Amino acid sequence: MNIVLLGGPGAGKGTMAQRLVADFGVAHISTGDLLRAAVKGGTELGMQAKKYMDAGELVPDQLVIDLVKERLADDDAQEGFILDGFPRNTVQAVTLDSELSAMGRTIDCALLIDVAPEVIVERLSGRRTCRACGYTGTAADAVCPKCGGEMYQRDDDKPETIKNRLDVYEKSTSPLVEYYRGQGLLKTVDGAQAIDEVYAAVKEALGL
Ligand code: AP5
Repeated sequence: MNIVLLGGPGAGKGTMAQRLVADFGVAHISTGDLLRAAVKGGTELGMQAKKYMDAGELVPDQLVIDLVKERLADDDAQEGFILDGFPRNTVQAVTLDSELSAMGRTIDCALLIDVAPEVIVERLSGRRTCRACGYTGTAADAVCPKCGGEMYQRDDDKPETIKNRLDVYEKSTSPLVEYYRGQGLLKTVDGAQAIDEVYAAVKEALGL
């Protein structure tokens, strides 16, 4: 199972990836999570990435591509992976294809979680994330339901940054829908339904 999850900011990519990982044990490769860990760790990469992330802009391609290449080589990614938040533009998609091809691997499915921008703004404004384990929840979660950790609001989930992230998605990432359609890999689910229903549709689309 080698899957690319597509969809705007807040479409539910991370939520669906967490469920697929829990049920099927594949590796979850989220470039957003990897970059946030680098920022938290104060690494050189984190310091370079932070200003782009805070503004809702894409981090330069080469930084992200290097991160993904390294992560794809990890043991747990050999049996299957879910790419969440990568690729984000055509350069990243073409590079991913050639890296996978060099590894003798391919993408099985590019799954688009389709959600209207108005829904996204509401969801992201209400999102809370666990500082300890990265669990994604809502403002209703006083503490993390998974590990009891502190829930916080991501810096890029503020209204003005959400708007820019939506613009960046439209301009840079949405063309990937046609890119993967052209390769015969695109499947689409309606992401505006309740979480359990979206997950049922995701599993059906993936033949699971
Ligand atoms: P990243 O972390 O990838 O952010 P994103 O793509 O904007 O995605 P999100 O994590 O915001 O949303 P999601 O789709 O995972 O939704 P979630 O499941 O959390 O990237 C952050 C930044 O890092 C980027 O802006 C960029 O700067 C940089 N970056 C990352 N990758 C990069 C790359 N490849 N190249 C360059 N730069 C890169 O759900 C959202 C909320 O909605 C949650 O509260 C959830 O509980 C709720 N929810 C989910 N599904 C439902 C549902 N069906 N019904 C109701 N609520 C729902």
